[in-house]
Amino acid sequence: MFSKLFKSLNKTDFNISEYCTTDLHSHLIPGIDDGVKTLDESIEIISSMKELGFKKLITTPHIMYHRFRNTKEIILDGCKKVKEELQNRNIDIEVQASAEYYFDENFLELIEKDELLPFGDNYILFEMSYTSRPFGLEQTVFNLLSKGYKPVLAHPERYSFLNSSLEKFDKLKDSGLRFQLNLNSLIGFYGKNPRIAAKYLSEKGLVDFVGSDIHSMKYFDSYKKAVCTKQIKELFENNKIKNHKI
Ligand SMILES: [Fe+2]
Repeated sequence: MFSKLFKSLNKTDFNISEYCTTDLHSHLIPGIDDGVKTLDESIEIISSMKELGFKKLITTPHIMYHRFRNTKEIILDGCKKVKEELQNRNIDIEVQASAEYYFDENFLELIEKDELLPFGDNYILFEMSYTSRPFGLEQTVFNLLSKGYKPVLAHPERYSFLNSSLEKFDKLKDSGLRFQLNLNSLIGFYGKNPRIAAKYLSEKGLVDFVGSDIHSMKYFDSYKKAVCTKQIKELFENNKIKNHKI
């Protein structure tokens, strides 16, 4: 299916590393979520990202109470092992860890207790149900902002309750949320509605960060094809992407 899709893409000689050398959002710590399963798989993907021109990766394992009961300590310990292996193999690239928080009771508690693992300048990446708006979303964004955090919504284009009526994005953006777009969305990796929503966000200049959201080599293969397309070039031209500041 994807080979057919990629044939129809407008490929350019665009090189993503001219615009972006820091990736935000991936699942590269082995065995702690639905991302990579082994250290070898992790190192293979990180090396491949380096070949694409990336100099820094901020990896973001899921913290989702009912599926992946990760903590700050589990993530940092896993990241340390990945970094040690990179060093052992002489692969020179910076890897840092943060988290992709799922909007659940546990997330609200962690905010309350100030036990979050931010990236960059106190940014917090979070996701939520794909189908229904979580109760108290705006209030939580407000609470995070009041505590000095900068909330970033992971892949806004993928939520069906948002991408079904595009003007909802503008309102959500006004609440103080930053948006992190998955580059694969722009070329249809997640289907038609996320692709249309990604195009809307890109054209309106609503995107703050971009990410690969890589979970496995399959994601990387698609990502590699995506990053040299016209859609991605236009995204970087239309938006003030802040990946280089984190
Ligand atoms: Fe993710």
